[in-house]
Amino acid sequence: MKKSNYNLPFAVLIILAFTSCDNNNNKNKMTTAGSSQTTKTGIKKTDWGEHDGKKVYLYTLVNNKGTEVKITNYGGIVTSFISADNSGNKSNIVMGFDSFKPYLQSPPYFGALIGRYGNRIGDARFTLNGVTYKLAANNGKNHLHGGLKGFDKVVWDASTSPDGTSSLTLKYLSKDGEEGYPGNLNITVQYSLSDEDELKIEYNAETDKATPVNLTNHSYFNLSGDVSNTILNHSLVIDADKYTPVDTSLIPTGELKSVKGTPFDFTTVEKIGSRISQVTGGYDHNWVLNKKGNELQKIATLSDSLSGRKLEVFTTEPGLQFYTGNFLDGTIKTSAGKPINKNTALCLETQHFPDSPNKPDFPSTILQPGQKYHTVTVYKLSVNK
Ligand code: BGC
Repeated sequence: MKKSNYNLPFAVLIILAFTSCDNNNNKNKMTTAGSSQTTKTGIKKTDWGEHDGKKVYLYTLVNNKGTEVKITNYGGIVTSFISADNSGNKSNIVMGFDSFKPYLQSPPYFGALIGRYGNRIGDARFTLNGVTYKLAANNGKNHLHGGLKGFDKVVWDASTSPDGTSSLTLKYLSKDGEEGYPGNLNITVQYSLSDEDELKIEYNAETDKATPVNLTNHSYFNLSGDVSNTILNHSLVIDADKYTPVDTSLIPTGELKSVKGTPFDFTTVEKIGSRISQVTGGYDHNWVLNKKGNELQKIATLSDSLSGRKLEVFTTEPGLQFYTGNFLDGTIKTSAGKPINKNTALCLETQHFPDSPNKPDFPSTILQPGQKYHTVTVYKLSVNK
């Protein structure tokens, strides 16, 4: 794995922070809502607190459009994604808080990196090479999103790019036995923000014992930038002819079912709310993407006519968990005090299928020693004016 640049002195990083990517000053000038302002591209680091004896920082990535993504090394959480709508007004399109404390009350994985295994493992156990591994049952009898203290609740080691580009590298060593999983797993996640408003997430991992790995990001989107609006008016396309039906505890039955003639058919553009009442509890399912192989491909498009914003999702992964925020109930409030109600945000989690360690017919999630886990997901934002 690439190991360069991690030893740069802190002072150098500070100097590099928020520097222009090149010497073309015009490139860094932009106009928003009629006013002219200079936007510095790059990355800025701020102190955010401390946890488990480690420093927590907030990193602000800015591109030449003035789009801004904030990420903390606590849980690798994307805390905000601020972009302009069709009138040039800027707002945050993901659920998150503007201070560290609320994250310690375990909001349901807002913006976080999820691992070692994204989504559920049935009965919180799996058998690998003849050994049965018991995991924490933190979702009824099942295991969810890596257990009691998954990758969303640990402090990652962070480093920024020495050339001042808008990218952040996070590293974490998940020790053999952590949350019940076998093998020391070395994970590197790189977030980068391009000038085309693409938030790219690259996941890399290596292990010294065979182990299941399924990494994802759990951002909750509301493209209108305002939780007073539900996401039921957003439109969605998912390039998937099949999905994985689930039992009452949301574990896939093992069947790959055709979406044709069902409320799960998003092969052509559909309003999210148009058939949601026909799905018990709302959408919280894995779609079997039509793409073949590991190439990075567009697999979903979400759009909101209110703001004109469009979010395209590209991934190398075979599955997509589309979750309509069914368990949000207004208890959690935004930093501005607005309740985050049911269906006011949605997740598009790129992944392998839930419960794959117990489903031999699903694409394998087992990483072997010597193999390199490498997946890429891109969230690309644009505005229809
Ligand atoms: C799961 C939901 C869960 C949510 C928050 C999603 O990935 O599919 O069932 O409630 O995460 O934990």
